[in-house]
Amino acid sequence: MAQAALVTGGAKRIGREIVLFLADKGYDIALHYESSEKEAKEVCAFVEKKGRRCGLFQCDLGDMKAVSKLIPEITKTFPDLSLLVNSASIFKRARFMETDPDLFDRYVQINFKTPFFLSQDFARICKKGLIINILDTKIHKTLIQYFIYTLSKKALFEFTRMAAKELGPDIRVNGIAPGLILPAAGMGKKEFEEMGEHIPLKRTGDPQDIARAVEFFIGNPFVTGEVISVDGGEHLK
Ligand SMILES: NC(=O)c1ccc[n+]([C@@H]2O[C@H](COP(=O)([O-])OP(=O)(O)OC[C@H]3O[C@@H](n4cnc5c(N)ncnc54)[C@H](OP(=O)(O)O)[C@@H]3O)[C@@H](O)[C@H]2O)c1
Repeated sequence: MAQAALVTGGAKRIGREIVLFLADKGYDIALHYESSEKEAKEVCAFVEKKGRRCGLFQCDLGDMKAVSKLIPEITKTFPDLSLLVNSASIFKRARFMETDPDLFDRYVQINFKTPFFLSQDFARICKKGLIINILDTKIHKTLIQYFIYTLSKKALFEFTRMAAKELGPDIRVNGIAPGLILPAAGMGKKEFEEMGEHIPLKRTGDPQDIARAVEFFIGNPFVTGEVISVDGGEHLK
């Protein structure tokens, strides 16, 4: 039986690209989505065309009860689950004084607590494999415009390193810190491209650049607790 991968938020954008890349590499896919059912079905059809199995798993990652059922449910269909990619996330500009307890809880839940407990379930049930957390180049900075988002990703960054120490030798835990890959909702392409002019490589990236970092971690069994910045050098700014 082929190895299988769970990609959270796999229906669109970066998650979608990771799913299609993994299918090309021979993985069966457990595709998690929340609201993008139509897109998830389309991606699933692409995966199946590549000769791999694909299962769709709808789950609100803000609901801890549902989160706790996700990996037990997935492993019934994919007992050889060996890769977890925590990609789903929420992103919004909110300064410190705008962050009320509900917003705080939501960011910490989806961007940090859910990957934490999915990793715990993965370790308990799958026992062996690789976890990749999708972070953000903002972990290297003190960007107060995205206060709670950045803080939640910084927590996931530290978790990546601590979990790597805790879960070795059977499970490796690594992270990818993307920079300007795709414009956020509400941002125009032109504005996004202009932002690219201010980083060392003077351009924006592509979801395939993230898939290449996934490939690196899969292919290097001696790497754990590492984070690759895929950001055109933005972390150097
Ligand atoms: N885009 C970039 O340039 C960039 C830059 C830096 C870091 N990153 C990181 O890279 C990863 C992927 O980025 P992206 O831009 O492709 O992400 P995105 O489009 O903002 O979100 C990815 C997916 O997260 C899922 N999601 C959101 N809230 C959810 C919830 N409550 N329950 C379940 N799923 C939920 C959504 O699934 P549904 O659509 O199915 O609802 C969505 O498609 C994220 O971790 C992000 O922080 C991206």
